Amino acid sequence: MDRAPFSAAVREQLGDSGWLDRSEIDAALVDFRGVFTGEAVGMARPASTDEVAEVVRLCIEHDVAIVTQGGNTGLSGGAIPTDTVTADERPRIIVSLTRMREVEDMNIARGTITAQAGVTIEELQQRAADVDRLFAPDWGARGTATLGGAVSTNAGGINVVKHGNMREHVLGLEVVLADGRVWDGLRSLPKDNSGFDLKQLFISGEGTIGIVTRAVVRIHPRPALQRIAFVALESLGTLNDLMAMARTTSPGALSAIELIPEVGVKQVVERFGVQRPLDSAAEWYVLIRFDSMQDGVDGGDRVDDDLTELLASAVSAHLITDGVVAATDAQEANLWLMRDELTATRSFGGFGVKYDLAIPPDRIAEFIGRAESLVDGIVPGALSFAFGHVGDGNLHFTVLTPDRDDALLERAAPELLGSLDQLVWEFDGTISAEHGLGRELRERIAGQKSDVELDLMRSIKRALDPDERFNPGVMLPGRHS
Ligand code: MLT
Ligand code: ZN
Repeated sequence: MDRAPFSAAVREQLGDSGWLDRSEIDAALVDFRGVFTGEAVGMARPASTDEVAEVVRLCIEHDVAIVTQGGNTGLSGGAIPTDTVTADERPRIIVSLTRMREVEDMNIARGTITAQAGVTIEELQQRAADVDRLFAPDWGARGTATLGGAVSTNAGGINVVKHGNMREHVLGLEVVLADGRVWDGLRSLPKDNSGFDLKQLFISGEGTIGIVTRAVVRIHPRPALQRIAFVALESLGTLNDLMAMARTTSPGALSAIELIPEVGVKQVVERFGVQRPLDSAAEWYVLIRFDSMQDGVDGGDRVDDDLTELLASAVSAHLITDGVVAATDAQEANLWLMRDELTATRSFGGFGVKYDLAIPPDRIAEFIGRAESLVDGIVPGALSFAFGHVGDGNLHFTVLTPDRDDALLERAAPELLGSLDQLVWEFDGTISAEHGLGRELRERIAGQKSDVELDLMRSIKRALDPDERFNPGVMLPGRHS
């Protein structure tokens, strides 16, 4: 196909800043880790919902497929077009929503923000903080990840244990559909049982059935202060009891609980030249955050007392061997560094098998033990590296071969993935907790879902995107999987 009439048509509708040619979009054709690459004929950059709808209509007219992209911080490849565009395949474009970055309304009485899809998570957090409220979704890529991407992947992060993932934050959505119509579901009602809750399909839909253009999201009262503690576990076997104790010591206060391995602490300490959080070393650590909703000295004293009491009780019960409560902002930042920098491929470089799995939280120790010996049996000497949101049973489990040839791990990857997938399912778990399926898990997910479930998913796709215009090659397994 001659691309010129299509790009000229987009330019005519959106203006010069609304279209980038292939030569200008290299950065959008690879994810930030360099794991997924792809091709597209160019990028449309609409600045409004009407312009998104116009782009979809032009794509219908010119038979072009669409891959929607927000901040390009995804870890499953859902926003990167597939690798090749063969002659008989439809050309595809990226539709970037990063020009749609307005916070349109802050409504404190309703506890909502209405914003366009390209607004970053950090900006929503900041805008909420400006009016003494909390926009709770939070993870390492907050400065670049966008609202639209977070909605489309039902993103999670460190605050899920208290506030839930994106799904719990979205009250209303506006979506451009595959036929170019706009669905205005921008309601802000906590209760609405007027038929199917359609927004839930687009939340975690990964851009396969519609383009999320605006959302109404919840904000919460902001904690007056927060304190974090970093503790060394007696062994991984004490994690469950520690989690239970953290929940009951100060009901409602627990707002983050993250597992961190010694191998991660060592990496971060060496790489950033920071102090070890504790003098003693253990195999596993847990970062615990308590919120205080109370203002003033009372609130501060209370949360400090509660965390100190938790640490003392946990030492007496032989759950932990050591612990520290951050006393200054600098100490706190240092402790968070131990967690934020754990994205293993960032710390270690090279090829790694990476999971975003979830299992019932009470089975984490048992799972890690089984997974580590499984890895050892397949790639002796490989390093298993688990960290993450243990309050939700969500582990980022990575296998690496530090200082060794990546080729060994790459060769073993199919067997490793097959066995680990089975193990996750044996534990009644999922191989995608908060990163979505994207391109990475599209085929593997077929092993987790029944024919009935896959059939329902395909029916939804057929109903909402019968021409398969949106995000080809993402999320849904191929027909014969
Ligand atoms: C995190 O929790 O840091 C993110 O999910 C990223 C990752 O899995 O590495
Ligand atoms: Zn995570």
